[in-house]
Amino acid sequence: MSARPDVLVGFMGAGKTTVGTELAALKGVDFIDVDREIERRTARSIPDLFAEGEEAFRELEESVLGELIASGAAGVIAPGGGALTRPGTRRLLAEYARVLWLDAPSEALWARVEADGGAENRPLAVNHHRFSDLQYQREGLYDTAADAIIDAAAPSAVAAIACRDSGIVRAGALDRLAELIGDRRAFLVVDEPVADRVPDLGERIVLPGGEQVKSTATVEQLWRAFAAADLERRDVIVAVGGGAVTDVAGFAAATFRRGLPWISCPTTLVGQVDAGIGGKTGIDVAAKNDVGAFHPPLAVLSDPTLLGTLSQRQWAAGFTETLKSGLLAGDPLWGLVRKWPSTRGEDQAQATLIRRAAALKNRVVAADPKESGERAILNLGHTIGHGIEHAAAGRYLHGEAIAIGLVAALALSVEHAGLASAVADEVTGVLTRQGLPTVAEDVSVVAVLDAMRSDKKRSAGRTKFVLLEAPGRAVWGVDLDDAVVEAAVAAVCHS
Ligand SMILES: NC(=O)c1ccc[n+]([C@@H]2O[C@H](COP(=O)([O-])OP(=O)(O)OC[C@H]3O[C@@H](n4cnc5c(N)ncnc54)[C@H](O)[C@@H]3O)[C@@H](O)[C@H]2O)c1
Ligand SMILES: [Zn+2]
Repeated sequence: MSARPDVLVGFMGAGKTTVGTELAALKGVDFIDVDREIERRTARSIPDLFAEGEEAFRELEESVLGELIASGAAGVIAPGGGALTRPGTRRLLAEYARVLWLDAPSEALWARVEADGGAENRPLAVNHHRFSDLQYQREGLYDTAADAIIDAAAPSAVAAIACRDSGIVRAGALDRLAELIGDRRAFLVVDEPVADRVPDLGERIVLPGGEQVKSTATVEQLWRAFAAADLERRDVIVAVGGGAVTDVAGFAAATFRRGLPWISCPTTLVGQVDAGIGGKTGIDVAAKNDVGAFHPPLAVLSDPTLLGTLSQRQWAAGFTETLKSGLLAGDPLWGLVRKWPSTRGEDQAQATLIRRAAALKNRVVAADPKESGERAILNLGHTIGHGIEHAAAGRYLHGEAIAIGLVAALALSVEHAGLASAVADEVTGVLTRQGLPTVAEDVSVVAVLDAMRSDKKRSAGRTKFVLLEAPGRAVWGVDLDDAVVEAAVAAVCHS
């Protein structure tokens, strides 16, 4: 689709070659490992070239990389782990590539490098301590250069699929729309608050945004507009907005002429870490999200700077989902969210937060795209949270109700999954710092349990819980006794 190649960056042991080979196969393009290409061209080994001085080597690396990108010789390219230390290389990639950072915790990378012969094969892998230090120094470079973060601790095929779908999270992401659209016709479906931030790339409809747009009326309005524009399958729908707009526009795209491709550009925090990615689209008919389709977007473009106009309440509601992702992912995302200040944080930290939370969702969805297993973990805090959201009849935003649901799910996890109570307490503290509720006021336990029972009926009788054993270790499909569930709900509801 895009003329830009994917360039995989990351530290030793991240699996750039394995993932790169699989990603290239998935995309039907060629893969080139820059080190191997340099060895082929010079007929010398990397350690041999490196011995003549790092500077000269990096210069050679940049010129080979530049040539590979300019010639379009490969759709997926993996340079060596230190390539980004050169400013020219960073500029080259920012302008002409999509940069994917394959990241994993230091322990996981070190274990792989050791299993692969350690320092014998990699001169810089002397011991774990020095290895972690160097990784730490490099992280800032990877983070500022990366368009997206990929969980490289996942099995390589999953990481490869996640790379394909991971999109872009960075300031100015919508500037990439024009090149993604290419010579197709684009039809834009835009959320009103961001309408003046969206480039003029084709015909557009502006929707008022919010949950009310997820209706059959809006879908009909979009279908008729698509018909009037005579859109065909080689054209593309671009949805720019909150989760409601991307859900409805994605659904209209999924169904019009049996499916038009679409590009998702989420503009809320909920959208950028959850709703805008993962391929679920839909509307509300008799109940929320009861009509929909799996229709993965061609690309997801998230610009964190668009969140500047989001109300504090909407931002905090989205933060709940990043906290949930941190609990599911473990470090480094858990480390980031547990220390999150009461403010929205610095721009770069916010971009990292969004990239890492999006990486968790991308990894889980890549492993289980149609929700037949592991994807269920994304419901942590949602079983009771949904019940509260319904019972409170619109007084809580989804993310606020989920904040309370998380508190309940973690209390259950302490009792039934061995979670350390310090983690549960810490989460309550983080939520409070963001001004999020941790108990539901004026909500009756009976109403919550009723709402949970109707959720259960809709999902064919399966109320299963997701519990957390520790940050990074969730279990799903857990059955709990009614009395246990009732007590957990009662503990977070004040009527
Ligand atoms: N498809 C999925 O996998 C998935 C996952 C989670 C949630 N969802 C859905 O997402 C929806 C919630 O999404 P949401 O939280 O983004 O809410 P939303 O789409 O209702 O947006 C909230 C409000 O923010 C406005 N807005 C959008 N971008 C803005 C910006 N940059 N600045 C200021 N205002 C802006 C919208 O117009 C709206 O009024 C729900 O319908 C939910 O079902 C879908
Ligand atoms: Zn949610």
